[in-house]
Amino acid sequence: MKKTPGKKANPDLGKINRVLAKYKGNKGALIPVLQEVQVALGFLSQDSLRAISEGLAIPLSQIYGVATFYTQFRLKPIGKHLVRVCHGTACHVGGAEKISAAIEAGLSVRDGETTADGKFTVESVACLGCCSLAPVMMVDNDTFGRLTPESAIKAVKEY
Ligand code: FES
Repeated sequence: MKKTPGKKANPDLGKINRVLAKYKGNKGALIPVLQEVQVALGFLSQDSLRAISEGLAIPLSQIYGVATFYTQFRLKPIGKHLVRVCHGTACHVGGAEKISAAIEAGLSVRDGETTADGKFTVESVACLGCCSLAPVMMVDNDTFGRLTPESAIKAVKEY
């Protein structure tokens, strides 16, 4: 096969197509498709949204509408480490606002953003399922509980 000069093949296309193949012809499957593609790629790139639009025969504008409406979807790549600060009820009562403020100040980043060096993405999330340890955060798959603003930023900086 001849290659088109200057046009690189999208290495993610195989992963996207595998997800699309599962839901072929199912227009109601947009949300699960977006979720699975995000799991496969870490975020929803413009190219992946275009491929989903073609694969499910749904207008791109509609897909953008859904992807930007739900906070679970990420349109930008995440950093090397994902810091999730719980803002569920128990953690909210336990001072989640202060934990988030300390982390955001310590990393010079705002909620939902990635640090300039690409090392950390910080996001507020709903209950992480260990309310008795409130306030809680997770860094990647590690859980930290009974946090103070100081212990939270100390833990993050160890990554
Ligand atoms: S409310 Fe934070 S872990 Fe449940």
